[in-house]
Amino acid sequence: MFDQATGLRQRVNGVRKSRLIAVASGKGGVGKTNLAVNLGLALQKKMQKVLLIDADLGTANIDVLLGLTPRYHLGHLFNGEKDFEDILVEGPGDLKILPGTSGLEEYLNISRKQVERLSLLSSHLELNYDIILVDIGAGVHNNIINFISICDEVIVVLVPEPTAIMDAYSLVKILHNHQYSGKINLLINQVNSLQEGKGILERMSKVIKDYLGIEADIVGYIPFDNHLRQAVKKQKALLDLYPGSKAGQAFLEIADKLLAAGEINMMERKSGKEGFIGRLLNLLK
Ligand SMILES: Nc1ncnc2c1ncn2[C@@H]1O[C@H](COP(=O)(O)OP(=O)(O)OP(=O)(O)O)[C@@H](O)[C@H]1O
Ligand SMILES: [Mg+2]
Repeated sequence: MFDQATGLRQRVNGVRKSRLIAVASGKGGVGKTNLAVNLGLALQKKMQKVLLIDADLGTANIDVLLGLTPRYHLGHLFNGEKDFEDILVEGPGDLKILPGTSGLEEYLNISRKQVERLSLLSSHLELNYDIILVDIGAGVHNNIINFISICDEVIVVLVPEPTAIMDAYSLVKILHNHQYSGKINLLINQVNSLQEGKGILERMSKVIKDYLGIEADIVGYIPFDNHLRQAVKKQKALLDLYPGSKAGQAFLEIADKLLAAGEINMMERKSGKEGFIGRLLNLLK
C-alpha cells in the first residue's frame, strides 16, 4: 500500500484530493457524533468516498453508536502495532471508519520511523477519499484547537440553549485568536422549528462578523427528532433505519449544502497543505 501511495503521490505532485472537515462543539453532548456518522452516510449516498475518523480525545464512541466492536484503534496505528487496513472498520452504507480511543494522547509520542510511515499513509488517505470527517471532542482545550486547526474547515455544532450558544461562540473566538485560517461552518441541532434555528444562527453569524470580523457559513438545521434517539438505542445510524425521517432529510440537505460550498473552495484546497495525518505529525515535531 505504501509503495502505491508513494507512486500516486509522485504522480499527482502533492495535489490533495480530500476535504478535511472537523466536527466540533463548545459544549458536549450536542450531537456531534451522530452528525459525523449521518453526514458521512448522506455524503456517501451522494457518491462521495467518505472516511470517518474518531479523534475525540475524551469520549471516542463512534463504534458504540454503530454497534461495532473494533479490535484496534487509532492508537495502534500511531504506535506502529497495526497497519491502516487492520484498524479500518466498515460501518453502514459502506462507510469507512477509523475507530478512536479515549487515551489517544498517550499514543502520540511516536518515533521518527513511525512519523515517516504515517506520512505515507496520510498521502494514501488524501488521495483515496473525497471527504474525511473528523469527530473531535467538545471544548476549547489546546489539543482540540490544534486538531481543528489542521483541518480545512470545521462544523461548529450547537443546540438552542444559552450555554451551548455561548460555548459555540467561545470556540469560534478561540479559534480566531489562534489564527485559525480554515472555513467555519455553523450548524444547529435539536431545533423545534426552522425559524428558531435560523434566528439563532443568523444572530450568531452576525455577532461573529461584528466582533471577530470573520464570515461563518450557516450549513443547516437539524430538528429534534425522536427517530434519532431510537436509532441511538438500537445502535444503528438514523439514516440507515429512518432515511425518510425529518432529521434524516436534514442530513441529506446539509450534505448538499456542503458539497455545493466545496465546489467553490476546491481551488483553494488543492493548492493547500498536506493531509490530516501529515499535519497532525507536524504538530508533534
Ligand atoms: N436531532 C436530535 N434529536 C433528538 N435527540 C438528539 C438529536 N441529536 C442528538 N440527540 C441526542 O443527544 C445525544 C448525544 O448525541 P451525540 O453523542 O451525537 O453528542 P456528542 O456531541 O457527540 O456528545 P459528546 O460531546 O459527549 O461527544 C444522542 O444520544 C441523542 O439522544
Ligand atoms: Mg461524541
